[in-house]
Amino acid sequence: MMKQGIAARPVRARSAILAMVRLLRDWLQHCGFPHASASITALSNHLLRDIGLARGDTLSTKDRIMIDSNPLPSRGLVEAATFPLIEAIHGRRSRRFAKGGSIPEGPLAFTSRETSEPLDPTEQMLLISTVAGNTGWTNLFAHHPGFAARLPNYPTAAGGRSFPSSAGFNTTEFFFTDDEGVYFLPTRDMTPSAPVGEMDLQAWVETHRARIVKLADGRLNIPAAMPYMEGHNTWCANVPGSTLIWPVADVAQHVLLLMLYLVQNGTGIYDDVNGTQIPGLDRFSHRLNMEAAYPMTFLEQTALTDVSVEIGSACYAGTLLLQALGLGGWMYTGINPSVVLGASGDPTVPGLGFRFEMLAGDPLPYVTGLPGVFEAHVPPHHADMGAAVAAVVRRKFGHGGPFDPALAGPYRDNATVRAAAAEIDTESVEIATIMADYVFRTFGRFPATVPPVFIKTYLQAHRLDTGFYDTHFGPDAYLHTHAEHDRNWA
Ligand SMILES: Cc1cc2nc3c(=O)[nH]c(=O)nc-3n(C[C@H](O)[C@H](O)[C@H](O)COP(=O)(O)O)c2cc1C
Repeated sequence: MMKQGIAARPVRARSAILAMVRLLRDWLQHCGFPHASASITALSNHLLRDIGLARGDTLSTKDRIMIDSNPLPSRGLVEAATFPLIEAIHGRRSRRFAKGGSIPEGPLAFTSRETSEPLDPTEQMLLISTVAGNTGWTNLFAHHPGFAARLPNYPTAAGGRSFPSSAGFNTTEFFFTDDEGVYFLPTRDMTPSAPVGEMDLQAWVETHRARIVKLADGRLNIPAAMPYMEGHNTWCANVPGSTLIWPVADVAQHVLLLMLYLVQNGTGIYDDVNGTQIPGLDRFSHRLNMEAAYPMTFLEQTALTDVSVEIGSACYAGTLLLQALGLGGWMYTGINPSVVLGASGDPTVPGLGFRFEMLAGDPLPYVTGLPGVFEAHVPPHHADMGAAVAAVVRRKFGHGGPFDPALAGPYRDNATVRAAAAEIDTESVEIATIMADYVFRTFGRFPATVPPVFIKTYLQAHRLDTGFYDTHFGPDAYLHTHAEHDRNWA
């Protein structure tokens, strides 16, 4: 039976691929679009020959879904949907010179002869949704001997995004700015908008557009000077016409989730700054092996590095799409995070307006949240650390969380799988609260040694000034998608 099934599938897959390729090539030639049609033919040949037909079946289905989603796709959309991943990886470069840009002096001096222009609205949404958007249901952790027949309860979101998240915690959200405004796009608790296998590109993009919250008119004001941004970015960062996207992580929440994780694995933390155990934990020696306890600072570093990996991965997904769209831009870090969040100290540069305090002995602002928009799991946004721990437990087990049995999902029997997650028992919640409360009371902040709210990596997209590259670089400085961008997205 099995063999017969496999044998039948290649025949169907082969004809499906060839039919799709023929249709696509005809359409692209009709549009006067020679490069992509050649690469599609090459790609299909490789698929059929090298990868195997069963996989080709899956890929061709995906291609058809993306292109079918728009009855009259623009040339740019067809190009982006069919652009080979391998070309995106090998063709990725930081291309910083936007239309309207200027380098006043030096060996690469150049002043753009073009004026800045915003991205096409569809490509902008495609890019933002690729960096920040929901891409389906996450697969829960399937097994852990310590949880026996119950599922580990680490994940905190039911949906997955274009980038992985440590233990499925998903503690980041996204902000972006363009010529028209400053925006928030919450997606960490977003669930798929369409049933599995019925994803429609146009609907996917529109679902994300509908979630955008406009926070202010006009581009976020980040003066093009030090210390607002690094000197090497003053000529190219957040320039007119560009779209700048950045993830913001709730590191405080991440630390709480790691504490719950530790407790359920039978240990906790100790205060390695003051060289003491946390009072009150000795009551739980029946379940906590404090010999294996983590130093507090190590746990906090783990949270910070976890979210750094996530936000970098999100922006990297965006850099790949830049190649397929034919946009200039790059991922980078050199814009002052305090300035962006709202702690510049300069009233004319209010940033996003996050709440912050200057704590004694700390030269950096302690930024905790933007009320009603993005609030880290610390006071004053939560009454106390106990309330913050309760909130993350609710996020897991409450309505729309990964362990809500009423929620759809990727399984044949979602209700049974979701309901099988181990509950977080009251004692675990109590222990995590003791540890979090100790840190907050002892250090006057939470976490003690890393910021509760963290931004680092920005993804910038802009229309590329190919004239700069034609003047100063050899022939391979940009891709055919960049050369054809304005025609494709006209
Ligand atoms: C963590 C990180 C921080 C970066 N910060 C900046 C930056 O502030 N300004 C900038 O122009 N490029 C920045 N970049 C981009 C690098 O300079 C660039 O990737 C590097 O020069 C290699 O070029 P390529 O991206 O074309 O391969 C950063 C990249 C990373 C990974």
